[in-house]
Amino acid sequence: MAAAAQKDIPVGDLTSQQAGAELARLAAEIADHDKRYYQDDQPTVSDGEYDALRRRNSDIEARFPDLVLPESPSGRVGSAPAERFAKVTHAVPMLSLGNAFDDDDVGEFCDRIRRFLGLDPEEPVIMTAEPKIDGLSASLRYEAGRLSVGATRGDGQEGENVTANLRTVEDIPVRLSGAEVPEVVEVRGEVYMSHADFAALNERQAEAGKQIFANPRNAAAGSLRQLDPSITAARPLRFFAYAWGEMSKEPFATQSEAIGELANWGFQTNPLFRQCADVAEMLDVYRTIEAQRATLGYDIDGVVYKVDRLDWQKRLGFVSRAPRWAIAHKFPAEQATTVLNDIEIQVGRTGQLTPVAKLEPVTVGGVVVSNATLHNEDEIARKDVRVGDTVIVQRAGDVIPQVVSVVSEKRKRHAVAYVFPDRCPACDSLAVREINPKTGKHDAARRCTGGLICPAQAVERLKHFVSRNALDIEGLGSKQVEAFYAEGDITQPADIFTLAVRDGEALKKLKDREGWGDASVRNLFAAIDTRRGTGLDRFIFALGIRHVGETTARLLARTYGSVDDFRGAVEAARNLESEAFQDLVAIDGIGEVVAEAVVAFFAEEHNRSAVDALLAEVTPQALEAADTSSPVAGKTVVFTGTLERMTRSEAKARAEGLGAKVSGSVSAKTDILVAGPGAGSKLKKAQELDITVLSEDDWLELIGNA
Ligand code: IVH
Repeated sequence: MAAAAQKDIPVGDLTSQQAGAELARLAAEIADHDKRYYQDDQPTVSDGEYDALRRRNSDIEARFPDLVLPESPSGRVGSAPAERFAKVTHAVPMLSLGNAFDDDDVGEFCDRIRRFLGLDPEEPVIMTAEPKIDGLSASLRYEAGRLSVGATRGDGQEGENVTANLRTVEDIPVRLSGAEVPEVVEVRGEVYMSHADFAALNERQAEAGKQIFANPRNAAAGSLRQLDPSITAARPLRFFAYAWGEMSKEPFATQSEAIGELANWGFQTNPLFRQCADVAEMLDVYRTIEAQRATLGYDIDGVVYKVDRLDWQKRLGFVSRAPRWAIAHKFPAEQATTVLNDIEIQVGRTGQLTPVAKLEPVTVGGVVVSNATLHNEDEIARKDVRVGDTVIVQRAGDVIPQVVSVVSEKRKRHAVAYVFPDRCPACDSLAVREINPKTGKHDAARRCTGGLICPAQAVERLKHFVSRNALDIEGLGSKQVEAFYAEGDITQPADIFTLAVRDGEALKKLKDREGWGDASVRNLFAAIDTRRGTGLDRFIFALGIRHVGETTARLLARTYGSVDDFRGAVEAARNLESEAFQDLVAIDGIGEVVAEAVVAFFAEEHNRSAVDALLAEVTPQALEAADTSSPVAGKTVVFTGTLERMTRSEAKARAEGLGAKVSGSVSAKTDILVAGPGAGSKLKKAQELDITVLSEDDWLELIGNA
């Protein structure tokens, strides 16, 4: 009981004896959280709670300076490196940043700088402001312009050597471009993962029964710390450069010039970087960036301000683990603690049962959250989430809220472990975990076996059909689909297109129903009509065939050109020994799993008749043919090394516009490898396979704009 009370005693009331015990407790607790965060990538407390522990620790240390422990968390950044990688000693330590939590803290930070430098009140102090990227920092050492060592921060003094992994990150040049590259330079910045890539990765992980990452930061950390670089290469990591360590000469005088130079050398720098003349401007940038936070597409947790003049930065120097010339102005935490009232099972369009946490509503990062995903059965078991538990929920940008962990100290004594249902809550059919024929393991997802008789699956299929990336029918959202299905007015996609002719005939007039009026009915029918000529790619995607996402649908649409040819080919492929099936699998990007799913869909009589009924109403349009006259039309191209005259994305977009297919890896199917400086294993492989290798200039000449 004494310990429980002690941790709640305000710092000002602690006796020296209590303070000593508190410091020891906090050191152990913070070290424990550090390990979970940095080494296991599995934090168990919110950032806010963690910051509070560190703050309490420094407040006690400030009051009792004699009691500061040798292992005090304030002298340490993060935690010691994990054992698996070789260690790298940073030539210049990688330090951390002090925090500002409100506008006053920012004002005080600027005052401190003025005082320290002894500046006149009129003397302008230009500051810079940029987002604080929520990833993990890395230091990249270049010697003679070539990447020699890439390391994580580790404890700030010593990190892990992850060079092979960092080389696979597309935003990290293996060779620097530009004339004024110093002989030795360590470029520092943040490795991170975008929201879209994070969501797709977790979906792949869930499908494969592998670890689900709690947030993009943990996914990036886990991906970077892979012992096998080919795993890192398959993870979509990105990098923003914002600082530097050792540098043999410094060809710039301000932070802003440095950022410009990093961009010249081939790095991505953050587009929201700004110079500010005073505190008001700094706070202005803070609010502007905060307003964009949810739509940036990657996690940021604050804004970093830095003194622009580097001579001043040098004079200001460092105090304990942070520079005096920079500070992080944090955003309010996007994690919160709440109570899990219930676990609801939702049935997806392919029958997958997804557990959803029904929460006591709580504000997370300015948005009220009452539902959060629990991913699947194994995740519930791994986190041991029980109804009635106090849980930490997290919202990262526009990623679906999720339950991160349980606050185990607050568990009720009678809470029982959650038992995942083995029957579908919608149709009561058996729900099973299929065995993956390839791995021999159980799928992570439990699926309803009710198939076509399951009403939940039918509604979800319809919702998918009208959704934004499928037929995109305005005015027909999830709510409307549910209502029409419940009334029996729309039970399959074709019914959507006959709604207008049946209105007032077979059905109760729509405009007389609740929620509808003349105008909204007219708009709906008009929106439906415009979709009768939808693109073949959207049409195929809309059918909701298992494993056929947008990219695969586009690939199928491009390959077959018309809906008749597509269907003809797929139905001919019913026999898995047939040539038609071999042709389907041979399409680059379509594996056996996808091919079998497409075949299985059309083997089902009910699906065939639903598609027939639909095709009586809609005529899918072939995709606009890519430019077939170009010399690279139909060719598979791979880009590698540093491109000097355009960015990688620009090169890709141009090649695709000319009808080429751009691939990330070299195989026997590759026609052309465009190799810039620094090309490595891909170039070697292409040479082995006798594939045409072009320089960037040769390539530009070939496509006609040298
Ligand atoms: S500057 C010596 N700028 O935040 C100061 N850091 O909490 C070097 N971070 O270790 C850091 N975005 O991992 C800086 N725009 C940014 C940043 C940034 C994210 C991270 C970095 C640092 C941590 C400090």
